[in-house]
Amino acid sequence: MATYKIALMGGDGTGPEVLREGVKVLEAAARRCGFSLDTASFDFGGDRYLATGEILPDSAIEDFRQFDAIYLGAIGHPEVKPGILEKGILLKARFELDQYINLRPVKLYPGVETPIKDKGPEDIDFVVVRENSAGLYTGFGGVQRKGTPHEVAVQSMVYSRNEVDRCLKFAFDYARKRNKDKTLTLCGKTNVLTYVYDLWERAFHAMGEKEYPDIKREYAHVDATTMWMVKNPEWFDVIVTGNMFGDIVTDLGAMVQGGMGIAAGGNINPEGVSMFEPIGGSAPKYTGLNVINPLACIFAGQMLLDHLGESEAALLVEKACVAVITSDDFPGMSAREIKEGGWSTTQIGDRVAEAVASA
Ligand code: IPM
Ligand code: MN
Repeated sequence: MATYKIALMGGDGTGPEVLREGVKVLEAAARRCGFSLDTASFDFGGDRYLATGEILPDSAIEDFRQFDAIYLGAIGHPEVKPGILEKGILLKARFELDQYINLRPVKLYPGVETPIKDKGPEDIDFVVVRENSAGLYTGFGGVQRKGTPHEVAVQSMVYSRNEVDRCLKFAFDYARKRNKDKTLTLCGKTNVLTYVYDLWERAFHAMGEKEYPDIKREYAHVDATTMWMVKNPEWFDVIVTGNMFGDIVTDLGAMVQGGMGIAAGGNINPEGVSMFEPIGGSAPKYTGLNVINPLACIFAGQMLLDHLGESEAALLVEKACVAVITSDDFPGMSAREIKEGGWSTTQIGDRVAEAVASA
């Protein structure tokens, strides 16, 4: 029987609560599909930082390398200045473990409400492949004459051909494996960022022509992409883009698919250790209230299973979520916080776990 080593990092605010439900569902899937999980918890986050000054030590990164995957709740603490934990934990893990892909499915499930009029699950089903380790996020740059009227600040969008190529390769492979419309759309800004996105565009066509003749290539500027994501989301199959644009369009994607209560993502190193997370944040004011929708975290768990190669288990979890969302007694909610009369965090987790067990 296969055993997978999973590092659990609940993180801040409501992160540990949603992760608990995610783990419950993974355990149910493991029992059902005949594999097991060997989990270890790590308490990095705002509380630990405030108590000890420690954010995410290098030794933890070394520990993470021993795992098959990392399952993360959320990072962000109201008493810690913004940026410290995000950079010190989330971005450090992404960079140090070279998780160079941020994979973000944008899929509207039946029973979930989208704010887009007249669009349903048959229209909203695409995936964003965001480059996750470079671009504007490298921190290249600096500031001079800080605090004076002459202050100058620079932060550069830096990409090497290698970084672009490995991301494109993942995206082309993904479009092929996904086998939906076999279309990959490069989202860029070639009309203004004439160095960086020119590099992306040349690399995109060179690779596509040579190695992926079966995949149709499209190009869209990032501003137009946001427009089409709302107006004609059915046009997209797989979108590939740089780090900053990817950050922005994936939040739009989260809203299009029904909100932060649903949206999940994977930080993927195809050759190393990957990390899966709900993308809704830590929602600190709801901590301990058992009112945060755990579905996003459960969907992150589904991605984790898929990544481990347990595709049957992943499919089971997805189907169980849909069964719960569309069940007659489900009070309905697509938002991150469960509203008055809705089911609690625990209840939703229990129901999905039961649906997995009885599938
Ligand atoms: C995300 C988040 C992070 C990012 C922040 C918290 C650093 O917004 O995962 O999309 O910008 O990548
Ligand atoms: Mn973001």
